[in-house]
Amino acid sequence: MAYNLLKGKKGIIFGALNEQSIAWKVAQRAVQEGAEIVLSNAPIALRMGELNKLAGECNAPVIAADVTSNDDITNLFTKTQEHFGGGVDFILHSIGMSINVRKSIHYTENNYDFTHKGLDISALSLHRVLQTAMKMDAINEWGSVLALTYIAAQRVFPDYNDMADNKAYLESIARNFGYQYGVKKHVRINTVSQSPTRTTAGSGVKGFDGFVNYAEKMSPLGNADADQCADYCVTLFSDLTRMVTMQNLFHDGGFSFTGVTQAVIEQMEK
Ligand SMILES: NC(=O)c1ccc[n+]([C@@H]2O[C@H](COP(=O)([O-])OP(=O)(O)OC[C@H]3O[C@@H](n4cnc5c(N)ncnc54)[C@H](O)[C@@H]3O)[C@@H](O)[C@H]2O)c1
Repeated sequence: MAYNLLKGKKGIIFGALNEQSIAWKVAQRAVQEGAEIVLSNAPIALRMGELNKLAGECNAPVIAADVTSNDDITNLFTKTQEHFGGGVDFILHSIGMSINVRKSIHYTENNYDFTHKGLDISALSLHRVLQTAMKMDAINEWGSVLALTYIAAQRVFPDYNDMADNKAYLESIARNFGYQYGVKKHVRINTVSQSPTRTTAGSGVKGFDGFVNYAEKMSPLGNADADQCADYCVTLFSDLTRMVTMQNLFHDGGFSFTGVTQAVIEQMEK
C-alpha cells in the first residue's frame, strides 16, 4: 500500500546490485511513494547489467560512481543536479564490502591493505558523499540521509570480521556529520541497523545461515526482511520524521534489546 509519503521528493539510491539488495527494495518503495530517483553503483556492479531492469521499472537514470573516488561522486552530484534541475531530498547509502571477509582472513590476521579498502568503501564513503554534497549544496533543506549498518558495531559477532569496525566508523560519521549538516542546513543523517538479510553482501559472511537463524530465534518479532527495511527507510525519508537525526535506529524485530528468548532457552535445554 502506498501513502504518497515521498510525493515530489527526489533522491539518490546507492547500492542496488540485484533483486535481493536492500537498496533495490528501497528504490522500488520510494518510487511507489511518489519519489523520483537516481540509481548509482560501482562501475563493476553496473557491468553485471541487472540494475537496468530496476532503472526501467523506476524510470530512473543510472549514474556510475565508485564511492572511493572524489571525481566519481562529484560527477554523480553534477549529473543528478542536471537531471532534477536542483538538489535532492534524500540519499540512501547501502554499501558495504570487506576483502578480509571475502577472502576468509581471520580478524586477528587481517591484511591492512584490505582493511583500508574495506573501510574506504564501507564507511569513509559516507563522509565523502556528504562532504561533496555539502560543497556542491546538493542536498535540499530538511533532506534526509540514511546509511545501512549492523549491530556488530556495538556487540561482538566474531565472523563479521573487520566489517564490525567499519560499521562502528560509519555510525560515528553519521553522528558527527549529522551535527554539522543539521546546523548548516537542517539535513538529518541516521543509520538503520538491519536484521541479517539474505543478500550478496550478507551471504559473504562466514556462518551466515547460523546468524540468520539465531537472530530469528532471538527476536520477539522475528527478523526484519528487506521489504520491511524499505518501508522503514521510506518513513525516514518522509517529512513525518523531520526531527530524527544522528541516531542509530535498530530495525531488527527487537533483537538488540533482547537478553534471551524462550525459543533459545528451549534449544539450550535439548
Ligand atoms: N545483508 C545483511 O545481512 C545486512 C544487515 C545489516 C546491514 N547490511 C548493510 O546493508 C547494506 C547493503 O547491503 P546488502 O545486504 O543489500 O548487499 P548488496 O551486496 O546487495 O549491496 C552492497 C552494495 O555495495 C556496492 N558497492 C561495493 N563496493 C562499492 C564501491 N566501491 N562503490 C560503490 N558501491 C559499491 C555493491 O555493488 C552492492 O550494490 C550494506 O551496508 C550492508 O552492510 C546488510
